[in-house]
Amino acid sequence: MKIFFTCLLVVSTLFPFASYADEGMWLPILLNKNEADMQKKGLKISAEDIYSINHSSLKDAVLMFGGGCTAELVSDQGLLFTNHHCGYGQIQSHSSLEHDYLTHGFWAKNIGDELACPDLTVSLLIRMEEVSAQILSGITPQFSIQQKNDTIQARIQRVVNAAEEGNHYKASVRPFFYGNQYYLFLHEVFTDVRLVGAPPSNIGKFGGDTDNWMWPRHTGDFSIFRIYVDSQNNPAPYHISNRPYTPKKYLQISLDGVEENDFTFVFGYPGRTQEYISSYAVKFLSQIENPLRIEARTKRLDLIKSASNQDPLIRIQYAAKSAQIANAWKKWTGESKGIERLNVIQNKEEFEAKFQAWTQTNPQAAAYQDLLPALKHLYIQMAPYATMNAQFQENILAPEIVSFAYKFQNLISQSKNKDSNVLNTLDKLKQIAQVYFKNYNPSLDKSIFEKLSIIEDSVGKEPLRLIDFPDKDYVKHLDKIYNTSIFADAHRCMAFLENYKIADYKKIEKDLAYQYAQIVFSQYFQQTRPTLLLYQMQIDSLQSLYMRAQMEMQTEKTFYPDANFSLRVAYGKVEGFKPANAIVYEPYTTLDGIIEKENPGIYDYVVEDKLKSLYKNKDFGIYANKNGQMPVAFIASNHTTGGNSGSPVLNAKGELVGINFDRNWEGTMSDIVYDPLFCRNISLDIRYCLFIVDKFAGAQRLIDELLGNKQK
Ligand code: ARG
Ligand code: GLU
Repeated sequence: MKIFFTCLLVVSTLFPFASYADEGMWLPILLNKNEADMQKKGLKISAEDIYSINHSSLKDAVLMFGGGCTAELVSDQGLLFTNHHCGYGQIQSHSSLEHDYLTHGFWAKNIGDELACPDLTVSLLIRMEEVSAQILSGITPQFSIQQKNDTIQARIQRVVNAAEEGNHYKASVRPFFYGNQYYLFLHEVFTDVRLVGAPPSNIGKFGGDTDNWMWPRHTGDFSIFRIYVDSQNNPAPYHISNRPYTPKKYLQISLDGVEENDFTFVFGYPGRTQEYISSYAVKFLSQIENPLRIEARTKRLDLIKSASNQDPLIRIQYAAKSAQIANAWKKWTGESKGIERLNVIQNKEEFEAKFQAWTQTNPQAAAYQDLLPALKHLYIQMAPYATMNAQFQENILAPEIVSFAYKFQNLISQSKNKDSNVLNTLDKLKQIAQVYFKNYNPSLDKSIFEKLSIIEDSVGKEPLRLIDFPDKDYVKHLDKIYNTSIFADAHRCMAFLENYKIADYKKIEKDLAYQYAQIVFSQYFQQTRPTLLLYQMQIDSLQSLYMRAQMEMQTEKTFYPDANFSLRVAYGKVEGFKPANAIVYEPYTTLDGIIEKENPGIYDYVVEDKLKSLYKNKDFGIYANKNGQMPVAFIASNHTTGGNSGSPVLNAKGELVGINFDRNWEGTMSDIVYDPLFCRNISLDIRYCLFIVDKFAGAQRLIDELLGNKQK
C-alpha cells in the first residue's frame, strides 16, 4: 500500500475555499473566503462579525450542548436555547409520575427553581487554529499505516498538552479531509447548566415520531437552560452559590421573521457527513447496513409501542429511548431512498471510471492507479464484519439486560483479586442500577430479547444466537433468565449490591444473563471488532488518499470538509420544494396547521385547550406575522446534519430568527450527496418559541430577560 503515500503534503494551501451553491458546511475561521458569496446572497454583516479572535463575535454565543447538539446564548445572564429533543433526557430525568414535566412542561418560576443537570455540560469555542504542519510534517511514504497513525496520535497529544497549559480550556485536535488537514480547537466547558423551561411534549414534540423528519412540520421543538459559573465568571461544578454566566456575546432576537428567498445561515456543530466516499461505501451503507438496522429497529419499536400503549409508566420510561431508536431508523429509511432516487451509486461509479482514466493519463496521478481497486477489495473483505457489528449493536444489544449485566464484569475480577477498589465499584454500580431500573421494564425487555436475538451468521462461524441454552427451548430459557437474574429485577439487584460480600462474585458468574452477556461480548471483542478495526484502518488510509486525489483531480471544484462535530457555518435561503410530482411545499407553517392536525385520539396530535383558546382568540401578541397568523416553522436551503439540532438560524443581520431542529426526509441523503432541489433544514420560528414562553406559559420573567425593551 505504500505506493499510495508518495505525495503526502499539507493540502490546505493548495486548495482555496470558495462557495457556489447552498451545499457546504464551512469552517468559521476561513469564512472570509465565503464572505463575498454570502454578501452577494444577502448577508449584511462581515465574516469577522461571525468569527473573530480579536473581538467578540457571533461565535461567542454558540455552544455545543451535551455530546451532540447545539445551543445559543440569548441573554446577558447565560440563558440558552436549544431543542426540546436535545433537552429531552434532562427533562425526563427530572420527571416522575407526580411531576411529569415531559407531559406538562416545566417553567422555573424563579431563578432559584431552575433545576441542576449534573451530567450536562456545554462547550464554548475559544479559538481554532490549523495545525496540519505540526501534525503531518515529515511523515513519508515509507511510514506504515500503524507508524503513521502512532506518530500522528503522539503529535496530537503534544499539541493538546501545549494548548491546555496555563488555562482552564479543553483542547482537541481533529482531522479534516480524512486526515489531510488538522485543526486545534480550544473550548471552555461549563459544568453547571440548569433546566429553566420546557413546553409540554404535545408542543415540544407535537407530531411525535410520525411527523419527525417531515415537512410540513408544527413542532415547538425548544427548551431553555442557563449556564451558571463561579464568582469569577468561570466554569465550576454545580454549587448553590454559583451565579448566572455573563457571556461575551449573546444573540439578538428578531421578531421580524423571514420571507421566502431571504438569506439565512446556521451556526452550529454538525456531526458527521461523508460527501467524498466511494461507490463501494455507499453500496454497503444503502444495500446492507441500512436495511439491517432498519429491520431490527422496526421490530424493537413495535414492541415498545404496544407496551407503551398499555401502560403509561412504560410510556414515560421508554419515551426517550424509543424516540432515539426511531429517529435514526427513520433517517436511514429516507437516506436509502434518496440514494436510490439520485442514482448515487451509479453516479459515483461513473466518477470513479473518470478518476481511473485520470490516473492512467496523468503521470503525476500515476500513484493513484491502484487506489480504487484496493479500496473496492477492502470493502468486500470488511462487509461481513461490518454486518456482524451492526447486528451486534441492533440485535444482540437490543435487550438492555445484556449490556447492563456486562457492566458487572469489573466487580467480578476485582473481587477475585481482593482489589481495594471493590467498594468504589459497588458504589458506582448502585448508581448505575438506580438509573437503569428507573426506566426499565423486564417483561418488555424479555420480549425484545425474544424477537431480536436470533440472527443469521454472516461469516460462516458460530451463529450469534442464544448459544449454549441448555434446554434448547428458547422461550423457556428466556423465562428462566428473567425469573432468576439479578439484572432483571430492581429489588433483587439492589439487595444483592447492598449485602455484597467478596465471595458473591460467584453468584454473578452463575447468573444466566451475565453468562449470556459474557459469551456475546467476548465473541464481539475477540472476533468481530478487531477484524473490523483492521479493515477500517486500511480503508481510512485509502480514503484519506482518495480524498486528496479527488482534490488534485478537480481543481475547479470547491471542497468543504465533511462534518466532524466542529463548529461550522452553512448558508442558504428560505425556500420551499417539490417533494413529488404535482406537490409543492411552501416554506412556512402556522398555528392553523396545528389546529388542522389536532386529533385528541392520537397521542402525537393532542392540542392543549390553552393553545386552542389562544388560537381562537387570535391572542398572538407581538409574535404574529404580517397576515395576523402565528408562524410555527420554516424551511431553508442550509446544509445541516445531526448535531445541528438547536443551532441558531440567523438572518442577514446576524439576528436570531429560528432554531434548527430537523431536515426533510426527502433530503436526508445530504449526508452523502446534497441536492439543492430536495435538501432543506427545518427550523422553529423564534416567534412561536417566544409566543409559547409568553402567552402559553406566562413566563414573564423570561420574556423580560429575552426581550427587555423590545416588548411593546
Ligand atoms: N429528527 C430530528 C433529529 O434528528 C429530531 C429528533 C427528535 N424528535 C423525534 N420525534 N424523535 O434529531
Ligand atoms: N434533529 C437533528 C439533530 O439532532 C438535526 C436534523 C438533522 O440531522 O439534520 O441534530
